[in-house]
Amino acid sequence: MDDGGRFVKYTTPLIHKMANRAGGDRMKAKASRLASRIAELSAIGGSGTAVTRLGLSADEQRARDLVGGWLRARGAKVTRDEAANLYARLGGDGPAVLVGSHLDSVPSGGRFDGALGVLCAVEAVETLLDEGLRLRRAIDVVGWADEEGARFGIGLFGSSAAFGRLPPGAATRSDAGGMSIADALRALGAGGDPTLAARPAGSAACYLELHIEQGPRLERAGLALGVVSDIVGIFHGRVTVTGRADHAGATVMGARRDALAAASEMVLAVERAASAVPDAVGTVGEIAVRPGAKNVVPAECTFSLDVRAPREEDLERVVREIRTEVRRLGDARGVTSAIDVLARVPVTSMDTGMRDLLLRSARAVGVDAPQLVSGAGHDAQNPALSGVPTGMLFVRSTGGSHTPLESCELEDAALGATALAIALGELAA
Ligand code: GLV
Ligand code: MN
Ligand code: MN
Repeated sequence: MDDGGRFVKYTTPLIHKMANRAGGDRMKAKASRLASRIAELSAIGGSGTAVTRLGLSADEQRARDLVGGWLRARGAKVTRDEAANLYARLGGDGPAVLVGSHLDSVPSGGRFDGALGVLCAVEAVETLLDEGLRLRRAIDVVGWADEEGARFGIGLFGSSAAFGRLPPGAATRSDAGGMSIADALRALGAGGDPTLAARPAGSAACYLELHIEQGPRLERAGLALGVVSDIVGIFHGRVTVTGRADHAGATVMGARRDALAAASEMVLAVERAASAVPDAVGTVGEIAVRPGAKNVVPAECTFSLDVRAPREEDLERVVREIRTEVRRLGDARGVTSAIDVLARVPVTSMDTGMRDLLLRSARAVGVDAPQLVSGAGHDAQNPALSGVPTGMLFVRSTGGSHTPLESCELEDAALGATALAIALGELAA
């Protein structure tokens, strides 16, 4: 960072100017522009309020094209990198202020997770342009690729590539149809090596991300905005349990090595292990059985592991307990097991200067925002863990998340976009 972090402590004439315009008709106009863009974006891979826009898919690419088109029309230079991330640059060369979120979804997810952050980044940049502000720093609006990891198992894919944090051999990981990440990237017109997306050191001055909260705390507090203090640590893994296929009728119960029955006990052990540690969570969201016929004793079962906690030592404790239990339960049933680690993201703190800036920006639009720990993982973890000053703004949401019931009032989103514009203005204008 070229000015040692002092830039987030500027006095705030700009904040006052923009906050004074935050009321009434302007907010309504923002909310209605966000509404029509959300409708347009969620039509890509959407059905009703459900969206399925998997990472590195043709639909995710269409989403990038749509967002890139809006910003190209406002004079941005629009590019895609070797990990399929979208960048829309405003302003000249030099370290840029990055702002954005992700454009993929989980299968049958909602319309706002990730998408709202990109749309509010577009809205914020347009606000600065409409104000006629001269940029003293470049702004890169970013649409990260494959944040969810729903298809290839590697979450935060695009931002990990951009900050040189991809796990080794990531490009060889395959989806359920056997297509590798490298091939999926080639199908999108990239070369197939996502490590080439790594940004030069020092090219990101700072990073801002707006995201729906995905939980009930802001709703309960009656507040539209929150500021993220920390993001949980995450362990992602895949367990393979190997037993022995046999005839479902001819094999007596005592003579079986049933991989699925063993895995079932292990899944319950995951639930127990996470429940025993305050604030930790553990989820098995995917399971597959081979050979997969009703009259065959399951020979192999694979299931996913998603474990999170806001303290590193707690996360380690839960993962250790799961490893012990998987081994013990496997031994007791005569099956073998192996745990493949897909990702381990440490607990991540947001930069205190960026937090302050976002708190002030929220206050400028009339919200006394609380600081919240995020239980969801976010692309913001990658710049933060790479030493880039990073801040995240939460917008109140309802209906949970990773479900078509996920929802967000567009008046809240418009307020968030305005707060984001104020912060962005301080950082770049
Ligand atoms: C992303 O939504 C995650 O937290 O898994
Ligand atoms: Mn998500
Ligand atoms: Mn998300």
